[in-house]
Amino acid sequence: MSGERVEVALGRRSYPVTVSAGWPADIGAALGVPGGSSRALVVSQAPVAAAGHAGPVVGALVDHGLDVDTVEVPDGEAAKDVAVLTRLWQAAADLPLARHDVIVAVGGGVVGDLAGFAAASYHRGIDVVQVPTTLLAQVDAAIGGKTGINLPQGKNLVGAFHQPRAVLCDVATLTTLPARVLTEGLGEVVKYGLIADPGLLDVLEERWPVGEELGRGSVTGRLGGSADGPPGGEPSLALLEELVLRSVRVKAAIVAADEHEGGQRAHLNLGHTYGHAVEALTGYRSVLHGEAVAIGLCVALRLGRQLGRTDDALIERVGSLLARLGLPTRGPKLDRAEVWRAMAGDKKVDASGVRFVVVDEPGHPALITPPPEAVDAAIDEVAG
Ligand code: GLY
Repeated sequence: MSGERVEVALGRRSYPVTVSAGWPADIGAALGVPGGSSRALVVSQAPVAAAGHAGPVVGALVDHGLDVDTVEVPDGEAAKDVAVLTRLWQAAADLPLARHDVIVAVGGGVVGDLAGFAAASYHRGIDVVQVPTTLLAQVDAAIGGKTGINLPQGKNLVGAFHQPRAVLCDVATLTTLPARVLTEGLGEVVKYGLIADPGLLDVLEERWPVGEELGRGSVTGRLGGSADGPPGGEPSLALLEELVLRSVRVKAAIVAADEHEGGQRAHLNLGHTYGHAVEALTGYRSVLHGEAVAIGLCVALRLGRQLGRTDDALIERVGSLLARLGLPTRGPKLDRAEVWRAMAGDKKVDASGVRFVVVDEPGHPALITPPPEAVDAAIDEVAG
């Protein structure tokens, strides 16, 4: 198996994103193991390693003649912390990793952001390879070079743009995810359908299987994992591969066009302005990122309608799709002043006010600074 390759075209810093269903025959080649490297630090998490995802990567690096050390970081957003980052720097120094060596992140967005920032900062920047194992990370976080950690004052407040050397997405890793974690990633796939590839909406409507367990977005359910077999359908590897590949193509093209978010890359924030406020005001616990994005998409579409840009049919279509996928279409009722503070504190906001991405029709997003009354009215419809 070789997988499909998508290039993130950034001149001399261009890199391949390989999307495969099962590890490619030559994992080392897909990882783009740097020619001059002699050591690698593989950063992972206990559940990722227990699911067997780190082993093949470590094996491939060893087969390529590298000395490999592994570090597991704690689960969850709390790991994006300076104390954990310090552990990674020290593990790198203990090996020791030199300028030409590499850090390899195997896991979800937390692992990728943290390991990516360790690589961006250690020795003033060494190579990082991303091996994302969640749908969110495969379609979004692992591509584009955003790395960082959190502060008590906010998420991702310290970080750097540091493009990976290669990204390897094996969609078979997604079959070990809890159903709710797989489902949340679909929020970002719907986003790509709305901003650039409307065919993704058709694929999800026509082919995403809705079983009892998947439809409820169960926290504990595993795809294909229970002794009785899954109670509903499960997505085939071919479907997962198509969704990831098409999403990756969108993200790669946007990053290539606007690496540092001076323009078009901001379209990736569709659903995120309100979504970030939901996450922040619910303590980053009860609502997962992709679920918050789904709620944010509902607000953004209604904001578009308030402004005469988005029609009812699209709002109904996306609402039905999100519900069908097991994603929320209504948000928790939150204190409105705190919502505005959270949205205005968002680092993606410029001085002219709170920016939103709206959708005129699928494939046609626009970045606007709307009147606050229109935003309030849209929020009232979704979380009033
Ligand atoms: N996750 C949004 C971006 O990479 O710009």
